[in-house]
Amino acid sequence: MNDTPIPASTLANLLTETRRFDPPPALAAAANVTVDAYAEASADRLAFWEKQADRLTWATKWDRVLDWDNPPFAKWFTGGRLNVAYNCLDRHVEAGLGERVAIHWEGEPGDTRTITYADLLTQVKKAANALESLGVAAGDRVAIYMPMIPEAAVAMLACARIGATHSVVFGGFSVDALSGRIQDADAKLVITADGGYRRGKASDLKSTVDESVALCPSVEKVLVVRRTGGEVAWGEKDLWWDDVVGTASEEHEARAFDAEHPLFILYTSGTTAKPKGILHTSGGYLTQVSYTHHAVFDLKSETDVYWCGADIGWVTGHSYIVYGPMSNAATQVMYEGTPDTPHKGRYWELIEKYRISILYTAPTAIRTFMKWGDDIPAGFDLSSLRILGSVGEPINPEAWMWYREHIGGNNCPVVDTWWQTETGGIMVSPLPGVTSAKPGSAQRPLPGIDVDVVDDQGRSVPNGGGGYLVIREPWPSMLRTIWGDDERFIDTYWSRFDSMYFAGDGAKRDDDGDIWLLGRVDDVMLVSGHNISTTEVESALVGHPAVAESAVVGATDPVTGQAIVAFVILRADAMDGAELTAALRDHVAKTLGPIAKPRQIMVVPELPKTRSGKIMRRLLRDVAERRSLGDVTTLQDQTVMQLIADGMTSGK
Ligand code: WT7
Repeated sequence: MNDTPIPASTLANLLTETRRFDPPPALAAAANVTVDAYAEASADRLAFWEKQADRLTWATKWDRVLDWDNPPFAKWFTGGRLNVAYNCLDRHVEAGLGERVAIHWEGEPGDTRTITYADLLTQVKKAANALESLGVAAGDRVAIYMPMIPEAAVAMLACARIGATHSVVFGGFSVDALSGRIQDADAKLVITADGGYRRGKASDLKSTVDESVALCPSVEKVLVVRRTGGEVAWGEKDLWWDDVVGTASEEHEARAFDAEHPLFILYTSGTTAKPKGILHTSGGYLTQVSYTHHAVFDLKSETDVYWCGADIGWVTGHSYIVYGPMSNAATQVMYEGTPDTPHKGRYWELIEKYRISILYTAPTAIRTFMKWGDDIPAGFDLSSLRILGSVGEPINPEAWMWYREHIGGNNCPVVDTWWQTETGGIMVSPLPGVTSAKPGSAQRPLPGIDVDVVDDQGRSVPNGGGGYLVIREPWPSMLRTIWGDDERFIDTYWSRFDSMYFAGDGAKRDDDGDIWLLGRVDDVMLVSGHNISTTEVESALVGHPAVAESAVVGATDPVTGQAIVAFVILRADAMDGAELTAALRDHVAKTLGPIAKPRQIMVVPELPKTRSGKIMRRLLRDVAERRSLGDVTTLQDQTVMQLIADGMTSGK
């Protein structure tokens, strides 16, 4: 960990973004949440969250909003009891919304399914009965390893309904990753599918499960959804979903569980260490994801069509495909495949087809779309869109502008949402009907959230200063611990600063007090004694018309300590060559100051990314320092590093 503080002096000359975009007046006038929410929450934070908890239906009301008697172990809404699945399904059907579409599902090959709330409830009740018939009880853990098909959501909600704790493992992970997660959680059941469609092919999931289960004696049964119809090996633990769920009773009463009943475990992998099983519980989690989905996306459930492009294997899929939207009775689109299959306009085709009004995606996707060219989205009718969200990484101002212009037709607020697997729900984000938006900034903590930027000593930095992002007060959807490892929970998040949650991200506060995320603190570079954030140099590069995407690392340098090495992907129409790289170096120097001028710029065809789309700067540091590569098992595409290394030796 790079523990050096980020001096305000370095940051003062960085990022001089001055563009502002006010909310469209009609949207502001009808917005779900107005500016008053900030004042209300700061007057009485707990009363504010208590009011948001009333969005949900509770079997027993809580007697205490927050129990923080034993920090950092929080309990929210103690004494309260509810059923999470009931809140996402039954109550909507009871309110007469059974015929509303919950999921417009689109398979990659183009097959579709339309699932109403009544249908989804029936499916979840059957699945709940099926799980109980297999001996799964409240408190047991169930691993879910699925493609993006409706049964993935059904499986999660069925677990929630019976009080079993799900652990969803992204369907692209290997045997090592899957078996390690099953073992850590001691899962009794695995729910999977024969496969799913990705990039025009049926990919196999079942064989990975077979190999994993062989290493995991805790697993008693494997429930298999038939999706691709591909050949699968069949063992004695295996059961077809259709045989067990398909024949189960449609009657199932949802029982209430304690507000702190474990809802799910989701593993986040650090760069090297063992994955951490992030534990989320029920009442506080659902309160925050429901409220933030309502506030940040301004969801009008009768008219909006919402689409979050994340995979259900990430926290974004948990909070903003399943629990947030469904607790709000949203109609959403769920898509199985990749954005370039069968053509690079697939996303825009879906928006046109379903008249999607709210889109939530990641900067890595946006930069890819930029690279593919403006003419692709221009060929589709995107006029149904009214709000655009971003999550997962800092969004460079140019990518933000491109998203606003080319996807949002210059009239959709862009909400850049900062949060983490650990925070469970959105923490820092503009409010679409309130905030005058700044390209590249996540701006303000949401009402009821106490986020700060502090220096090395934990003191708040003044406007214009930079440092570490922390959370000063507990929040309803906070992680409760790391599964089975309270010590590691304390060490990782609560030891860096006294009584504050350390998020691991660098941030700066601009002259208006708005927050700009600067990437993980481990990625900050130290050049001639100055701390420079990778995010800011990357944004400067993407600000040049020739560059679609970039990744910047600090490589050891005999003179400056670390020197900046940049990897760039050019836009479709840009010309590679020494002239361009010289121009890019100058462009960075001009934008950020001479100290930030890269020592070297390499044009590459691809960047190494994790499966969730985060750039693996660690591997690029290895390349820049001409070391052999470290662990590459979490790389999305194993061939990328070879392409980059070949480019290096050919002297590009
Ligand atoms: C890390 C958390 C939150 C769901 C998806 C990622 C980075 C996330 C932003 C943003 C700048 C962001 C941070 C954070 N991050 N959103 N809007 N601006 N950085 O969840 O895998 O737990 O990753 O993603 O570095 O700490 P995750």
